[in-house]
Amino acid sequence: MQKILKGLTVYKIGYGGIGIARLPDGKKVLIKGGALPGSIVDVRIVKAKKDYVEAHLLAIKKQNPELLSGVPICQHFFSPFLQEQETGLQEYEIGCGGCKWQVMNYEAQLKLKEAIVEDAFGKLLKKQEITFLPIIGSPLQKGYRNKIEFSFGVYKQLDEAFRKGKKSGIPEADLLAQGLKKYAIDADFNLGFHKQGEFSKIVDISACGLITEKANQVFSHLKQLCKASGLPVYDQKTHQGFFRHLVLREGINTAQLLVNLSVADNNLTSQEETQLREQFLEQLKADPLLKEQVSTFVISYNNGLADIVRNAETEIKTFRGEGTIHETLDFSAFVPADEELKPELSKVTFRISPSSFFQTNTLGAQRLFGTAMQMIGHIEGNVLDLYCGAGSIGLSLLRLGIGKELVGVEIVEEAIVDARHNAKINGLQDRCFFVASPAEKMLINFPELKEKIQNVGLVVIDPPREGLHPNVIKYLAELKQQYAFKLLYISCNPITMARDIELLVEEGFSFKQVQGVDMFCHTHHVECISVLG
Ligand SMILES: C[S@@+](CC[C@H](N)C(=O)[O-])C[C@H]1O[C@@H](n2cnc3c(N)ncnc32)[C@H](O)[C@@H]1O
Repeated sequence: MQKILKGLTVYKIGYGGIGIARLPDGKKVLIKGGALPGSIVDVRIVKAKKDYVEAHLLAIKKQNPELLSGVPICQHFFSPFLQEQETGLQEYEIGCGGCKWQVMNYEAQLKLKEAIVEDAFGKLLKKQEITFLPIIGSPLQKGYRNKIEFSFGVYKQLDEAFRKGKKSGIPEADLLAQGLKKYAIDADFNLGFHKQGEFSKIVDISACGLITEKANQVFSHLKQLCKASGLPVYDQKTHQGFFRHLVLREGINTAQLLVNLSVADNNLTSQEETQLREQFLEQLKADPLLKEQVSTFVISYNNGLADIVRNAETEIKTFRGEGTIHETLDFSAFVPADEELKPELSKVTFRISPSSFFQTNTLGAQRLFGTAMQMIGHIEGNVLDLYCGAGSIGLSLLRLGIGKELVGVEIVEEAIVDARHNAKINGLQDRCFFVASPAEKMLINFPELKEKIQNVGLVVIDPPREGLHPNVIKYLAELKQQYAFKLLYISCNPITMARDIELLVEEGFSFKQVQGVDMFCHTHHVECISVLG
């Protein structure tokens, strides 16, 4: 098969923002890189499978004008669409790999997300009717994230003449002697996001449109301090260097800010480097802007090889403050006006540790959980919250009068410590029981759960992207034999959600409708809610 395919018409969008086209023989071409429906594109084939072909976007020849009326919120925004509009050519130049949908107005983004959800449930739709409720938008489209993870790194790009010379076999020394420079771009201290499609290059960011002004101010100040320290960034290729990641977590409703600086400290061995590190830490401690704006500062000592903030050996040390922040969810907009619920009882506060999951769009989470509560309606009995994180869904439900007692199960130990604390600070500790375990092994790890899980009126499942483990599906089917509970399924991956729901329907659950909620504006991600009977 040819490597390059030209002039394909993208007719649909699927999960992961993948553009879908067809070959003359009817085979599907799944295109990564931001190809939108209605555009005509050139692509490079990366994998040919029996039934479909995987490809990367190379060029956009014609675009769908109806989709392109968005005003990018970010100065670092890179889009093949904009490139084409400005230059007549589409080339991948320096550009942040995030938020590819900024070219679209928000209405168009929401329509595409509805299409992604419907596409994901396509197989089940052939077997039964499904109502796809109109998607609910995010209250904020800018500055909506309460958590962001920047990477430190380098950005080196060979000069084109130098690259060609080397390719033709001329030794590097000769090319340099001819006066050619080796790199067109040679930045050795960047802090930002990975370049579109290239994980070894970090695009330097001065501000991010997805976080608040306060978070951006702290980010840019910290970046200056790190750069001025003289300590090197960690190089993912050589595994040398100090600075790895910078994570900011903000309580949008509480104005608290947590900084988590991830560093590798096992390769700074010279006395000079150790001294620089000590000086840098002293400076962080004394810095007036950080003292004023940052509630707590932790440092993650991470000497693992993988490019992640935390691996099994990472040691998180609290550098200043408590090492955690709080966030409050306010559900007053979802409480019926005639209900005599005191205003403070429609608010739930959560402590969040550096490693605990918390929904990244606080105001969006209020809408997500509030809508889920309305969809659940009245229940009798207790709540079982699997994949419960720091307890955010189960505790919110209890606080608003849904369910008598709560059992929560979550794999991350720190999140369970937070969940127990959160039950306490919301006055719910006597009605809650949390365990740290994989959901699929909970009865093996904690046989006492059999006793605790009684009179179930509602099961909440909000799993990671991979969806439910087969043991969990089996367990839910068995539990259904005992109790007539409602099942709330919340997911950030409509593909695995549809797969799981199909299995649950085979096990006797009834399923009617899906509600899309946008928690991630300017990206292809979409959250879904369904309540099964
Ligand atoms: C999408 S988050 C939802 C968390 C929580 N319900 C919330 O909304 O804040 C998924 C959670 O599942 C947890 N998790 C991942 N694999 C798990 C497993 N096998 N068993 C239990 N929890 C798991 C993650 O640590 C994460 O907290």
